[in-house]
Amino acid sequence: VTPLISPTTDAVTAADAIAHASGRNTHDVTLVLGSGWSEVVTGLADPDSAVTLPVESLPGFAAPSAAGHRGTVTSCLVDGVPLLAIAGRTHLYEGLGTEPVVHPAHVAAATGSRVLVLTNAAGGLRDGLAVGDLVLIRDHLNLTGQSPLTGATFVNLVDAYSPTLRAAAADAIANVEPIATATAAADAATTPRATARPAEGVYAQMPGPQYETPAEIGMLRTLGADLVGMSTVPETIAARALGLDVVAMSLVTNLAAGVTGEPLDHAEVLAAGAAGSARLTAALRALVPAVTRA
Ligand code: 6GU
Repeated sequence: VTPLISPTTDAVTAADAIAHASGRNTHDVTLVLGSGWSEVVTGLADPDSAVTLPVESLPGFAAPSAAGHRGTVTSCLVDGVPLLAIAGRTHLYEGLGTEPVVHPAHVAAATGSRVLVLTNAAGGLRDGLAVGDLVLIRDHLNLTGQSPLTGATFVNLVDAYSPTLRAAAADAIANVEPIATATAAADAATTPRATARPAEGVYAQMPGPQYETPAEIGMLRTLGADLVGMSTVPETIAARALGLDVVAMSLVTNLAAGVTGEPLDHAEVLAAGAAGSARLTAALRALVPAVTRA
């Protein structure tokens, strides 16, 4: 798509610093690692290809606050593809506005990426989703009441999550093993999950930081949401305005309130991510070359 906005000055400065530190002038893909995903950086990079910078050394990034989000920017190769991995996103609920939230999308554009891969931890709403499932985001509901676009910019969000790249991503991760949770193991006994293509779903972003009430989860299901979380939507909107193709993937870390009737906490969300880290790494090592070549 034709860019409707340009990367911010901070993003251009950050991209220059990344190029200087890494010796790579462009990164074909930028990957944003959400809650529970940050452990994948080490296993993702081709041997001896990674250069990691703390976000504090680059302009435009807010210091990371939420547990489970370490603030690093890593330049590396994944199966030979130059990739920028950003761990430690800023969330709307931190109250800093949309600018630091969408800074990774601007840096992606400034560094020459054509594809932005967004990952997150999400609550599963739809029947049949299990903890540990990877779900490709097909569409979103922006329930934040906010937009990262300032000024009169009308951005098309039909196919915001590229159908072509989604298909390539689905093929690539179809053979990645599910993590061994009680639910997944029980399901695996009866269903051949390991060879199935990953599910696709509609992701609803709530403002947070509180989790939803059971009544709100009922509302989200009525609205057609399959997944609920607190990120990804502003980044996608900004990325589309910047002319990037977007692929986004949720790790189902828990079933949403009212689905199980159990209370929910952040530690549970992080534990599910940590448990699946090797599998998440394998999924991304397969996905990155596939979406680059699609
Ligand atoms: Cl259930 N809700 C929200 N808003 N974010 C989440 C979640 C639920 N599970 C993981 N992240």
